[in-house]
Order: sequence, then C-alpha cells, then structure tokens
Amino acid sequence: MRTACWLLQLPIIAWLASGSTLPEETSLGDVRRCQGSLGKYGACECLETTVTCINTQFTDTDVFLHVDHNHYKYVTRITFHGNNFVELPFTPLFGVDNHERLDLLNISANYIVKLHPEALRGMPNLRVLDLSNNEIVLKEDDIGFLSHTRNLLRLYLRHAFNQSVNRTIQFDLMERMFENARLNSLTELDLSYNFFKTLPYNLGCHFPALTHLSLRQNLLETVELNVTCLQRLETLDLRTNLMHTLSHDFRKNFANSLPDYSLVLANQFHCDCNSHAYISWIRSTHKVRDKDSFKCSRASPELYVGTKLMDVPLEKLDCSVRLTGAGVSSAPSWRCFSVLFIHPVTVASLTCAFATVVQSLTIG
Ligand SMILES: *[C@@H]1O[C@H](CO)[C@@H](O)[C@H](O)[C@H]1NC(C)=O
Ligand SMILES: *[C@@H]1O[C@H](CO)[C@@H](O)[C@H](O)[C@H]1NC(C)=O
Ligand SMILES: *[C@@H]1O[C@H](CO)[C@@H](O)[C@H](O)[C@H]1NC(C)=O
Ligand SMILES: *[C@@H]1O[C@H](CO)[C@@H](O)[C@H](O)[C@H]1NC(C)=O
Repeated sequence: MRTACWLLQLPIIAWLASGSTLPEETSLGDVRRCQGSLGKYGACECLETTVTCINTQFTDTDVFLHVDHNHYKYVTRITFHGNNFVELPFTPLFGVDNHERLDLLNISANYIVKLHPEALRGMPNLRVLDLSNNEIVLKEDDIGFLSHTRNLLRLYLRHAFNQSVNRTIQFDLMERMFENARLNSLTELDLSYNFFKTLPYNLGCHFPALTHLSLRQNLLETVELNVTCLQRLETLDLRTNLMHTLSHDFRKNFANSLPDYSLVLANQFHCDCNSHAYISWIRSTHKVRDKDSFKCSRASPELYVGTKLMDVPLEKLDCSVRLTGAGVSSAPSWRCFSVLFIHPVTVASLTCAFATVVQSLTIG
C-alpha cells in the first residue's frame, strides 16, 4: 500500500527534480510578450504588473496610450528608457485611463526637452518618478508639471536638464515647479550630474520630509542652503563637486547647522598654508560622514599629494607651490570616466568637453 502511494508520487518528484525549468521556459514567451498593441514591439517586456520598453527608439508618446485599462489595469511599474520623445504630450500620458496602482514611472534617457503640465495626470499614487538623463528646458507653463503626483517619495533628476539655457531663469522655474508640486512626502531628491554652479537657497523648503538630497557631480565650489528646511536630512551628498576647500561661511553658517553625520563630501581637496582652518574643522566635526577617505589632491609641498586630510601635518603645509591659477597642471578629469548613460557617446563627449572648458577656465 505504502509502496503504491510512493510510486504514484514518483512523476511529481521527477517533475520537481527537473528543476521546473520546463514550465518556466514554455511560459517565458507568453509572460514576457506584452498584451494588446504593445505586443507588436519585440523590445517591450511585460510581466504581470510591469511594463518595460528599453532602447526601443520610440519617438511618439502615443505609445503610452497602449498601456491601457483593457490589458494593464493593475500595472504598478512602467519603464520607457532609451527612446527619443523630445516632448511629453499636452494631455495625460496614458490618456483617459487612470492608473491608480502605478507606483513607479521611469522615463529616463528619452531625450525629453519639453514637459507639459498635464502629462502626469492620471497616476495619483505614483511614488517613484525617474526623469534622469533627459534634456529638460523648463517653460513658464510647466510649473504645474509635478502637481498631480502629490504622493511622490522619490524623484530622480540626475543629469536631467539642458545645461545651455539661462540658469537664472531655469532655477526660478524649477523652484516654482517644486513649490507648486507640494511634495510633502518626498524623502529623496536626486539632482546629481546637473552642472549646477549655484543652488536655489530655499531648495529644501519645498520638501518638508526630505531625508536624502544628492547634489553629487555638479560644479559647486561651496554650498549655502536654508538649513532651517534641512533638519530631517540623513544624507546630503556633495561628492565630486569643485569644493577644493571649505569656506568659513560653509562651515559656520551651513554645515554646523546640519544634522550629525549627514554630509558626504569627498572632493578634490587642496592642502597648503591656507588650509589649517578647514582641515582642523573636518577633523573635529561630527557633521561629515566620509572624512576618513579625504585626501589632498593637490598640496604644497607636493610631497603631501595623496596624504589623508586626517593625517597631513598641518604645520608642514606651506605655500611654495601654487595650487590654482596659471601654469598648474591637473590630473585627468574624473568627469570623462564616470559618465555612462544611454546616449554614452553624446553625453560622455559633451561632459568631457565641458570638463575641459571648466578646467581651462580654472587654470587660465
Ligand atoms: C530606470 O531605468 C533605468 C534603465 O533600466 C535604470 O538604470 C534606472 O535605475 C531606473 N530607475 C529607477 C528609479 O528604478
Ligand atoms: C539645449 O538648448 C539649447 C538652446 O535652447 C539648444 O540649442 C541645444 O540643442 C539643446 N541641447 C540639447 C542637447 O538638446
Ligand atoms: C539670464 O537671465 C537673467 C534674468 O533675465 C539675466 O539677468 C541674465 O543676464 C541672463 N544671463 C545670461 C548669461 O544670459
Ligand atoms: C528659511 O526657511 C524658513 C522656514 O521656511 C523661513 O522662515 C525663512 O524665511 C527662510 N530664510 C530665508 C532667508 O529665506
């Protein structure tokens, strides 16, 4: 009797032992092929509640209308990356259908220049929006763009803006867009790789819940933001800017008023006879998390190039070598190596060209 039972179970055991590769393989084609008219596009992949179209070369945002309620009522994550849309539509991206469950919209690397204020209507519970690696130029009528997604938690604007338009005007529009958005739950904002030289002073004030702000890889020589609005910060990432030294104002009026251990700020630091105050501050402060890794990237005497800021003998630093100004050679720029985006050739060459200009400006 027992043997018979065991024998009956044999096929099941054999099936389990086969590692269930067979059923997965047969269903792979069905599961991954998108339903409805989106199924025409081989480069799109759909799982139960996700739609992903990467490097699909779409140029018309009408393709978003294919993500409709008939087939995608329960969609939670939508990614269109590596297309060439240029403009978001005047009307809601997904047309008349509300995607109540949509949690993540990733429209990074799509060469988006123009946003349009209605484009994000119809996804009221969106929590993650990635607009990185685009060429956004803000216009007066776009300041309502983010006002339909009040529940956003994470907003990625990494290398998102066209850098050749007037920054004063773009910043003003960006601030008004953030103000209009009233993103009271936003915890994470990524503004890295944007070539920013300055920042809107009240940037943090539009995001009362903000805990993570990344300004990494911009062109900031110093930072001054309204610290009253940054009291919840856990991380302010200022790595790889142009902060060769930390000014008195930065230390006393800004950094000292931030939460402990919130600053991450590895930069190409300069060490010479003028560096005592800022290096001493770094050594004693509780604000900076990554200070053990800081090194003198230029130094006088040159002997101390590469020495840790925590160890460099302050009394031996002099000013016999000029660290900035004419005739100073510099190491190859990090900017040329650290940029890998979807339009790698364009972006990398633009970035390198820009870094070279910046370098020759700082040098010359
Ligand atoms: C958006 O998609 C790109 C390409 O797949 C990916 O690298 C990036 O991490 C995604 N963003 C988010 C927030 O998941
Ligand atoms: C950025 O904007 C400028 C001025 O409007 C335009 O000439 C340029 O083509 C834009 N750059 C990119 C990469 O779109
Ligand atoms: C940018 O716009 C502001 C305000 O209109 C103006 O004062 C400034 O001169 C402009 N800057 C450049 C570089 O054109
Ligand atoms: C800084 O932010 C606080 C709180 O929002 C505000 O009351 C204050 O006016 C701001 N300071 C400046 C100089 O804008």
